[in-house]
This record gives sequence, structure tokens and C-alpha cells, in this order.
Amino acid sequence: MSRTSYLPGFYKLSPEERVRIVKEFADLTEEETQLLLKAGNLDLSVADRMIENVIGTWPLPLGVATYFVINGRDYLIPMSIEEPSVVAAASNAAKMARPGGGFVASSTDPIMISQIQLVKVEDPEEARRQILAEKEKILEIANSQDPVLVRLGGGARDIEVRVIDTEMGKMVITHLLVDVRDAMGANTVNTMAEAVAPFIERIAGGKVYLRIISNLADRRLASARAIWKKDAIGGEEVVEGILHAYTFAAADPYRATTHNKGVMNGVIAVARATGQDTRAIEAGAHAYAARNGRYTTLTRYWRNEDGDLEGYIEMPMAVGIVGGITRVHPIAKIALKILGVKTARELAEVMAAVGLAQNFAALRALVTEGIQAGHMKLHARNLAMAAGATPDIVDEVVERMVREKAIRFDRAREIIEEIRRSRG
Ligand code: COA
Repeated sequence: MSRTSYLPGFYKLSPEERVRIVKEFADLTEEETQLLLKAGNLDLSVADRMIENVIGTWPLPLGVATYFVINGRDYLIPMSIEEPSVVAAASNAAKMARPGGGFVASSTDPIMISQIQLVKVEDPEEARRQILAEKEKILEIANSQDPVLVRLGGGARDIEVRVIDTEMGKMVITHLLVDVRDAMGANTVNTMAEAVAPFIERIAGGKVYLRIISNLADRRLASARAIWKKDAIGGEEVVEGILHAYTFAAADPYRATTHNKGVMNGVIAVARATGQDTRAIEAGAHAYAARNGRYTTLTRYWRNEDGDLEGYIEMPMAVGIVGGITRVHPIAKIALKILGVKTARELAEVMAAVGLAQNFAALRALVTEGIQAGHMKLHARNLAMAAGATPDIVDEVVERMVREKAIRFDRAREIIEEIRRSRG
């Protein structure tokens, strides 16, 4: 059988037929192909409607973080992630935030931005004025696309027009600002942008190319703050250490990137569990972190009058609880039920709180025992399983590796062998 990726119409096949082709291509065993086709809690037929060329599903662990109190309410936080210690760390941070009252979170209205790019205009400033003068008509055209959203209290609210300098000359960029309520909003704002584009061409001349959402959702911000009482986190010295860790990150993009990666460990795990567009959130977060021309932290920390540590996070949070896969993916639906959020804003606020918690936990570990201790302890379990530890011996393998401070694959293998030999 020749190995070719030239497969016209592959997408028209059923997942089973596709698997048969991939099996030949990659020499998969019968066992491997059966595993691909084994439906978990996401049915293959559902998966097949979600993306193209489906040959299976790719399961990830789903955990819940404990101890979260946000705006006075207790939450269990569903998190889906492959990395050990993230769920434990979030819970740990939330536990330590409880004596200070937990997290106080808020958010702006869910305003998404759609961009309409107008080029080849003779007088860009005049075009800008012409577009702004027709604001009401533009909003009307946009809103006629989604009467349901308007009925729910959302809809296009405003426009902004910017003239930008590019290598291909000046461009007139119209921003449609749309309140998307409980949706992530990409579809809505893209449809609106496409609808108003011909009108913009008509009034300002020139040619419209792009009509698409901006993932720099800086009008849709979520924020959270928390007080970590010094006695709850290990005292004065820990507060001092975290402030040093934070100011390092605030001043240095190399560190800030890792600092924010820690934030995103939490944010994206919740996003994944609840069926969000994780790439949109990532892209928005990092662009927002660089909004002043230099990449810096999404969180801030300071010592309050009582000597306790206060933390704050603010970031774009384009999330939805309607539309997308939130109502299709069975586990996303359950995750949203576990969270019990009633609006997209509430979900955004929860996610901001989790991002702050995650960041705090990592910083605290870094300035005390170092990140590896907690991380490796949990990582040891993965290693042990990968090395072939069966459920009856995995705890013993982990415990021995941790005790020996030898959390390595080869050592896991040896210990497994030793245990098996000793048990005959
Ligand atoms: N599973 C789930 N939660 C765990 C846990 C585990 N194995 N170990 C600790 N926790 C959570 C629990 O909420 C626990 O409270 P509880 O015992 O009342 O349920 C809380 O953490 C404190 O437990 P403790 O035993 O004091 O934790 P620890 O001091 O051994 O810390 C970590 C272990 C992993 C939580 C801690 O080292 C940490 O926060 N590290 C940061 C890791 C990180 O940031 N990872 C991501 C990037 S590398």
C-alpha cells in the first residue's frame, strides 16, 4: 500500500473509513485502531460534526479545583489539563485566600470588536469622517443581522474609526463594538461586519478586504482581586518573596511570559472544560499584556496596610455559555452545570479568579520550596504509570521516588521491577 496524503474526498468518509486509511498509512495495529474508534463520553458522531476529517477523540483529564469563593459564593471549578499540579495549585491558592474573604471579581459589559478594513481611499481622514457621520445607519444594518441578540439586550453599540499607517499606505479601519451578551460572539460580530462592509464602501469609496473579529477583546475585560493574609501563606518572608517575584516579571518580558503562562494554566484549563475557544483567549491575553508597548504581567501584587498580600488580575475574557460547543459537547455542558454560572460575565469573572489563584500558587511555590517539589511529586505519578506501574503498586512507586528524590523514568522502571520481584 503506498503512503500518500493525497486523499481527495477524505472528508466525505465516515470516521471508521478514515481510520482504515490512517491505519494503512501509519501501520497502526488492530488494537490502536480500535482504541481510536472507542467512543468515550464524546460520541464519534458528535465529534464528526464538530471538526473535519475526524478519526477519533482525544481525551484529557477533567478535575475540579476546590476551595474557591468568588464574590461570596462557593464554586467547584472544572479544569481540563494534562499538566500535573495545576488543579492542586489552584485549590491550594483558593484555600489560602479564604481567610481573606476569597476572590472579588468583576467584568465589563461583554463588548466584542469587529474590524472592517477599508483600503484604496483617496482621502482617509475624509473617509473616516464620512463613516462616523453614518454611525446610526451602520449600527442599524449591524443590528438587523441579529434581532434575537437585540431582544436579549445586546447588539451593536458603537463604532470607532481609525486611520492606520501600513506598508501599503493608509487604511481606514472601522471597529464595530458589539454587546454579545452570553455568547463568545465571533459568529455574531463577523456576520455584522460582513453586512455593513458594502455600505462602508458605498459611503467612503475604496475597497473593503477584511471583515473579522479582533481577538484583542480589550472592551471585554474580567478582573479579580484577593487578599492573602500573611499568616495564611507562610508569613512576612513569603509576602516579600512574592513581591520580588512579581516585580521581576513586571520588569522583564522573559519572566513575564512564564508568569503569564502560569496564569493561563488556570484560565485555559477552565476554558477547555467549559468548551471555550482557548486560542482566542490566549491571543487576547498576551496582546493585552503588551498593550503599553512592552510585554508585562497580567497580574499585580502589593502589600496592604496590614502587611498582607493583595493580588489583582485584569485581562480580556471572550467566553460564552451559549453557542459554540458549549451546548454541544456533553462534558462542556456538565462542566458549566458544575460551575453553575448564569451568564458569560460570571464565567469570565470565575476564570479571572482562577488565573489569579494559579499565578499566586506558582509564585508562592517558586519563592519557597521551588516549583519542582510540588510539581514533581504529582509528576511522579505520571512517570510511574508511564513506566508501567499498575494501580496496585503506583502509590508505592511514587512514594519511593519522592523519598529518594529520584523522580525519573529509569528509576520508576527499577522500582516497579523490585516491587514485582519482592511480591513474587
Ligand atoms: N491533589 C489535589 N489537591 C491537592 C493535592 C493533590 N495531590 N495536594 C495538595 N492539594 C491542594 C488541596 O486543596 C490542599 O488542601 P486540602 O488538603 O485541605 O484538600 C491544598 O492544596 C494544600 O495542601 P498541602 O498538602 O498543604 O499542599 P502542599 O504544600 O503539599 O503543596 C502543591 C502541593 C502542589 C499544591 C503546591 O506545591 C503548589 O501549589 N505548587 C504550585 C504548583 C504549580 O504552580 N504548578 C503549575 C505550574 S508548574
